[in-house]
Amino acid sequence: MSTCEHEGVERVLFTQEELARRVTEMGAQITADYAGKDLLVVSVLRGAAIFMADLVRAIELPLEMDFMAVSSYGAGTTSSGVVRILKDVTSSIEGRHVLIAEDVLDSGLTLRALVDELASRGPASLAVAALLRKDVPNQAEIACRYVGFECPDEFVVGYGLDYAERYRNLPFIGVLRQDMTE
Ligand code: IMP
Ligand code: MG
Repeated sequence: MSTCEHEGVERVLFTQEELARRVTEMGAQITADYAGKDLLVVSVLRGAAIFMADLVRAIELPLEMDFMAVSSYGAGTTSSGVVRILKDVTSSIEGRHVLIAEDVLDSGLTLRALVDELASRGPASLAVAALLRKDVPNQAEIACRYVGFECPDEFVVGYGLDYAERYRNLPFIGVLRQDMTE
């Protein structure tokens, strides 16, 4: 890895190998749980795109992929508390087994809003796969059926996660250097 890729990252939390291993495990679990079901995996743009891409390739079942985009954070690192749907799914989810793939459960506000919205549309089932679950106080109660890693309450980047739209292409997840956000 070049110094350039590490620039801005204080320390690596989850290596490329650890991510690959864990996402493969999650895919195997989902494969077992959804056998014979009409599975629709909904990813939340843009942070979950890379997780989604790896996760679906670890699921050995026929499935469909769809995407939503919501705004929760601006360019900063703290939640605004406002969640807006910027792009909705294309498919109807009624009667289908929907699995939301999300990058990180932080305050939980984004997932709370998404789960409530999608649940109101009559899916056969609705579950969440979150790559990271942060250890934060007052997190909204979200039942995540699949969690990749428990994560310390720090701002992390890489593997889809950004700071001001940068760092998404890092193959690992690391803690952003404090001085990069000042
Ligand atoms: P929540 O609504 O506070 O749970 O935040 C969820 C969204 O905020 C995630 O889908 C991410 O896009 C973003 N987010 C939360 N924590 C981080 C982080 O540490 N790094 C990058 N993005 C984050
Ligand atoms: Mg984001």
